[in-house]
Amino acid sequence: MDRYVVIGNPVSHSLSPAIHARFAAATGEAMEYATLLVPLDRFEVDVKRFFDDGGKGANVTLPFKVNAYRWAGTRSERARVAGAANFLAMRAGVVEADNTDGAGLVADLTGNLGVALKAKRVLMLGAGGAARGVIAPLIAQGPARIVIANRTVLRARELAARFEGVEAAALDAIPAIDFDLIVNATSTSTHGEAAPIPDRVLERTAFAYDLAYGPSAKAFVERARGCGARASDGLGMLVEQAAESFHLWRGKRPATAAILAELRARVA
Ligand code: ATR
Repeated sequence: MDRYVVIGNPVSHSLSPAIHARFAAATGEAMEYATLLVPLDRFEVDVKRFFDDGGKGANVTLPFKVNAYRWAGTRSERARVAGAANFLAMRAGVVEADNTDGAGLVADLTGNLGVALKAKRVLMLGAGGAARGVIAPLIAQGPARIVIANRTVLRARELAARFEGVEAAALDAIPAIDFDLIVNATSTSTHGEAAPIPDRVLERTAFAYDLAYGPSAKAFVERARGCGARASDGLGMLVEQAAESFHLWRGKRPATAAILAELRARVA
């Protein structure tokens, strides 16, 4: 049986095993997918052992995405932009790193939520690892304007400078325009706080999306709705990045609607 894992610390809460079990059953793929808890200082040792023992692939979650990127033998272009990998696959004796987070975000927005990106105005909040992980696939959709706003404006400038036409701003100097989409990629959600932007920005926003899901994203999603925006947490992105991973490993693209609805009920 082909073996896959999600590697993290902590990892017991991960929904990925349930998602991939459903994908495998639905597509008739013979595979198992488990969690692999790795001590903070043992990522490289334990991931090597997993692949040496015949493991086929791994998803990687916090705090090891940068370790995975560096450790792998080869890296995809989108992993390079992210400087981090949430996906590893053994191919012809070499472990390849990729990043499926941005593709997951785009699939959730455009496929599940009906939020188009082409020619739209997008505001990215945050310039850390989460923002870097999704920015390239967002830009590839052809938005008219992308502004990266960050508490530390220098970090926003550094990230924006990697792409043509992407703007950087401080959180208190966000351009006063109507945004079609705000993506919250700050880590304020993980502390259960809403994003540190004024209501006037959210009031002029059509759709607000938080990369976190469940209770973590609640403060931001509720505040955005209170300001009149449509809003979503990142549960759909989680399912869609899993579907993208599954497709890369198995060559089959699983349907996502049923498992997403099921997890939505569970997370609520
Ligand atoms: P992650 O991998 O979750 O993105 P990170 O790389 O530490 O973690 O980045 C966290 C992001 O959230 C950064 O954009 C950070 O802003 P800074 O670059 O100025 O640190 C942002 N962030 C975290 N706490 C914040 C807060 N209280 N207010 C505003 N931005 C915050």
